[in-house]
Amino acid sequence: MGQGVLTAPRAADRDALLSDAGLERRDGSLLMAGLPLSAVADAVGTPAYVYNAEAVRARYASLDAALGSIPHRICYAVKANGNLAILRLLRDLGAGADIVSAGELERAHAAGFPAERVVFSGVGKSASELRAAIAAGVGHINVESAEELDLLAALAQGSRRTVSVGIRVNPDVTADTHPYISTGKSGIKFGVPTDQVAAAARLIGAHPALELTAIAMHLGSQLTDTAPFREGIGRLLAIVDEVRAAGAPALRALDVGGGLGIRYGAEAPMSPEAFAAAVVPMVAPTGLTLYVEPGRFLVGSAGVLLASVLYRKHSGGKSFLIVDAGMNDLVRPSHYQAYHEIVELEAGGRRLATVDVVGPVCETGDFLALDRPLPMLEQGERIAVLGAGAYGFVMASSYNTRPRPPEVLVDGGRFAVARPREAVADLFRGESPTPLG
Ligand code: LLP
Repeated sequence: MGQGVLTAPRAADRDALLSDAGLERRDGSLLMAGLPLSAVADAVGTPAYVYNAEAVRARYASLDAALGSIPHRICYAVKANGNLAILRLLRDLGAGADIVSAGELERAHAAGFPAERVVFSGVGKSASELRAAIAAGVGHINVESAEELDLLAALAQGSRRTVSVGIRVNPDVTADTHPYISTGKSGIKFGVPTDQVAAAARLIGAHPALELTAIAMHLGSQLTDTAPFREGIGRLLAIVDEVRAAGAPALRALDVGGGLGIRYGAEAPMSPEAFAAAVVPMVAPTGLTLYVEPGRFLVGSAGVLLASVLYRKHSGGKSFLIVDAGMNDLVRPSHYQAYHEIVELEAGGRRLATVDVVGPVCETGDFLALDRPLPMLEQGERIAVLGAGAYGFVMASSYNTRPRPPEVLVDGGRFAVARPREAVADLFRGESPTPLG
């Protein structure tokens, strides 16, 4: 399946995985943009997230160029990796931001995104979040239910601003990805069902402080094929016709969401060119601006998680590498059974064993890889977990009172800490052993 559940890469894919990340091997050492990752690990310790700025730029440029024949805006999905350094990088490239909380609104603002380049999505925006978005003047707010629209209408009324609204439609399209991240199917919590869209559009049209500017969808994440996009856009186009016929003079955007997949192992994700070839001819005749909201595609391959081997162990016929990064640092393997390629920072041409790479957290589900062909590394040797730039640090927790790792940016032959390692004291700041006195 698209999510790459436990699918090992064919040997040939390892080169592609390295090159997607801007990684190469020289004399056995793994380099990111020409910089030895061992030097980064020496400087900041492990576990640590390391992001390659140039790889993010290359991804952005490839998508921007592929969509170049029609008016478009790439709104980066902040949830994938909200580090301010990553956000600033994408802002400087001309990206907008797709946000899902008031917290992400503040992040986008702190990174310097102009409010009109921000799109606010999400199924459960609170009144205070909607108020903050109205006050900031975001580009459009994608509503996901009739009740949310009623609340937005009431808040807009009192704000003396005209609020641009998008309707996020649930197009009822099945996407081949992990069920937890499939978001465009009927019967799940996301989007306004197609048969409720006309009423929502009427309400917006009749309201003095609202204008309908966008029709939107998001089908799911880690999609590797264009078919669901074609199907979903087909449904959106029918809705565009319908709402235009009823009168929607301010409609200017068709937002087709995020979801472009990346290579984690053996999958062959669609290229930006293939995506554009499927989408652009469908959208161009509408004259609408095409919005896309990629997260993973822009940053996923550009990041690695560095970890060190703490211990080796043989037990019950299995071999374990116990490393200093666990499910609290990178939850994707244990939460989605996601495959992440693991490579040594210093390759030694050693014999491969079959190992489980596990973390220090007290759960049997705390693993980064199962039954993986890897050398039985020595204590203190370091590894890079690939494809960790999206939904890595942002999903990290301090479970087991483990401070979250630092985030490092590599650019122009240099590296710098973009967020320091948390201190243990950060983890219980504000707690009181005697809250009742
Ligand atoms: N737009 C909306 C409305 C979304 O809900 C999402 C992701 C995106 C854009 C960006 O999707 P992307 O281009 O990154 O696929 N934690 C999961 C992924 C959850 C995605 C949720 N929504 C994972 O680690 O696979």
